[in-house]
Amino acid sequence: MAITRFLTGITTSGTPHLGNYVGSIRPAVRASLTDGVESFYFLADYHALIKIEEPERIQRSTLEIAASWLAAGLAPDRVTFYRQSDIPEIPELTWFLTCVTGKGVLNRAHAYKAAVDKNLAAEMDPDSDINMGLFMYPLLMGADILMFNAHKVPVGRDQVQHIEMARDMANSFNHRYGNHFVPPQAVIEESVATLPGLDGRKMSKSYDNTIPLFAPRVQLQKLIAGIVTDSRAPAEPKETQGSALFQIYQAFASPEETLALQRAYADGISWADAKQLLLERIDQEIAPMRAAYQDLMDDPSRIEDILQAGAVKARAVATPFMHDLRQAVGLRKLPTVTTAPRAKAAKTTIASFKQYREKDGKFYFKLLDANGEVVLQSRSFDSPKVAGQCIAVLRQQGLTALTSMDAQLEPINPARHQRLGAVLAEVAASS
Ligand code: TRP
Repeated sequence: MAITRFLTGITTSGTPHLGNYVGSIRPAVRASLTDGVESFYFLADYHALIKIEEPERIQRSTLEIAASWLAAGLAPDRVTFYRQSDIPEIPELTWFLTCVTGKGVLNRAHAYKAAVDKNLAAEMDPDSDINMGLFMYPLLMGADILMFNAHKVPVGRDQVQHIEMARDMANSFNHRYGNHFVPPQAVIEESVATLPGLDGRKMSKSYDNTIPLFAPRVQLQKLIAGIVTDSRAPAEPKETQGSALFQIYQAFASPEETLALQRAYADGISWADAKQLLLERIDQEIAPMRAAYQDLMDDPSRIEDILQAGAVKARAVATPFMHDLRQAVGLRKLPTVTTAPRAKAAKTTIASFKQYREKDGKFYFKLLDANGEVVLQSRSFDSPKVAGQCIAVLRQQGLTALTSMDAQLEPINPARHQRLGAVLAEVAASS
């Protein structure tokens, strides 16, 4: 089965709240448990530097977010969970992408444009108070995604433009240097409507209307008491439409429970009772995780170890891939001068397919890289012609051909996919 690679980043600029849990943490943890899916989740702390100037806050947020994801059930041995700033290949790739991206593209990025518009409205210099981090934000994000050749990127609506930009970066680079990157796709979780906050607007730090995910029960109760309702008295029927309380309940409850609350609304449940129901429903899901969260928060070195192990896993992909990309753009070691005759130099090997016949009488092929290392091995064929056709398809389509060739090829280690893509690009270029 072809593996789909999911990747998403969480900016380390705050404390996770219920909106983050419902919209991102919970679906991501569930997705990571699905077969045929390979997940990359990372703490986007380079991104946090764009807007946060307090070092302590970045560190604190990194700890809180990591503890939240782990407490919510993210299994670090099933996914690759890492901190962006532990992967030095990412800023390096950012530069490569910077050099294949038009400045005009970044001029059109929503976040940058909004900042410019704000300045213009205040009759200030358009770039007043805008740092280059904000301007280049989509390039760093593109590098996050392309570094691991993610197929799917689950994000909020506000991030879709960034994913399209990452696609453009992948295509520009591929166009210039051969097929190295998979153009990624955004995945917007339509079923996960945004959770309303205490005041009924979208739950967001910028509206100061959030409920922290791991608030102690007493604080949770106080915050829930503050959710806006209308002034309908107890026993009066209530509207579920537009009720923040109802929507938050729905995000935690089963369809049956939701239906029961809908009836209770119609029957005139008091707001106080409805809030009590909400408290109990949220607490039922969160309380067990809250204990795990506290344990993790009390032992940051455990989280640090998990992140370090994640970085090792991530770099097992990033380091060899970056090596290939450096080769591709021409950042190469100079050749060692040899006194060998010219004819010998011409024999320098390049990546190539080899077709052969085994003692079993069957036909096979393999793909060798320039060092003669086998990067792809076929299964057996009855006829050399069919083997040759497979090679032709691989030459033409590169990595995409793999999705339909499970029966013809020996299994491929996903960690070697990128390397394989580069070698396929090499043979395609040399044929
Ligand atoms: N920009 C994203 C946000 O603010 C966070 C992020 C950084 C990200 N790098 C990413 C998301 C790569 C997906 C993929 O929500």
